Amino acid sequence: MRYYFDNAATSFPKSPAVLAAMEVYQRECGAAAGRGGYRSAIAAGKIVDDCRTIAGRVLHCDASRLIFTFNGTDGLNQAILGVCRPGDHVVTTTWEHNSVLRPLRYLEDRVEVSVTRLVPDRNGQVTPDAIKAALTSKTRLVIVQHASNVLGVVQPLMEIGEAVRSHGALFAVDAAQTAGHRSITVGDAPIDLWITSGHKGLGGPLGTGLFYIGSRAEEHIEPRRWGGTGTYSEDDRQPTELPDRYESGNLNVPGLAGLGAALSELTDEILTQRQQHERALVAELWDQLAHCSAITLYGPSPQEADRIGVISLNIAGFAPHELASILDEHYGIEGRAGLHCAPGVHRWLNTIETGGTYRMSLGPMITTEDMAHLARSLIEIAGGN
Ligand SMILES: Cc1ncc(COP(=O)(O)O)c(C=O)c1O
Repeated sequence: MRYYFDNAATSFPKSPAVLAAMEVYQRECGAAAGRGGYRSAIAAGKIVDDCRTIAGRVLHCDASRLIFTFNGTDGLNQAILGVCRPGDHVVTTTWEHNSVLRPLRYLEDRVEVSVTRLVPDRNGQVTPDAIKAALTSKTRLVIVQHASNVLGVVQPLMEIGEAVRSHGALFAVDAAQTAGHRSITVGDAPIDLWITSGHKGLGGPLGTGLFYIGSRAEEHIEPRRWGGTGTYSEDDRQPTELPDRYESGNLNVPGLAGLGAALSELTDEILTQRQQHERALVAELWDQLAHCSAITLYGPSPQEADRIGVISLNIAGFAPHELASILDEHYGIEGRAGLHCAPGVHRWLNTIETGGTYRMSLGPMITTEDMAHLARSLIEIAGGN
């Protein structure tokens, strides 16, 4: 039996509708989108258009403002490198994923962009006041994760967004860990750039991502990739319209067939149910494990902070990688040990030197039985309560 608890990396299993849509495309169509006038090329184009339309419905935003990317990292690079210019100042947090920290470090080292990295408070929160205090006349961009991929802590996005808006800077959100786990009205939120993977909570296949560009950001963001779009082919300048401006090169049509099918299964009601279900599962697991003296649970408890279904722990006497191997080999549990590409969280926890933590992340397919098996296995390895 396989118990998959690495949904923060990518969700598994994908729904049958996703697999079917990808197979139908590969078997029966197989053409590139937007590149030819024959019927299968038009059918491929429709797959892309339909996926965009459905994504706009799920995210409550203008679909023509959604760009397809190849993963979350791709969208985050486009956002950061596309907006920042020499002399700009950026505000972010130390808890960001390396897909935010590394492009920012690159800009700092190469093009004189300065970066303020805020350390979250003891409950893992970056308050709007802390953001306000960091803003300067040179701040062009504030980029913050919606939820941590190590501790699951959720940031007060709307309040931060209002603070950034009143200053005039652009607000970018890394929603890699919350998309598909919580409902959001991207179009009405005080968010200028919203980036996520398509292959995590949204349930699409690997190689997919979504990037929303709001009207305030539109004229400030340059493409980071230039090339064929299937439009204005006589011109060697990049088209200026959304989404073509940011979608050079062939799109991942099989991936978008799958992503479209995954998004078709999402409604606000389903997302609200997921959120409640995951909250209940996390609270119960936390309660069961908190009694076990050999187990260290990291970050604020679910009573102290709003959290998604991501939990990090260590068991005394085991290195995180050793624990991961034991859980995999003897209990069929697949989770992830290490620093999770978020070294700043591990600095905050003081777990860098000891190999990080063991992380379990929930997805929509996780059942209460899976959770019971996880809790029993961890308690057994820890030597009982
Ligand atoms: C918070 C966060 N941001 C960005 C990413 C990068 O997403 P992707 O793996 O789709 O490139 C991840 C991936 O785990 C993540 O957890």
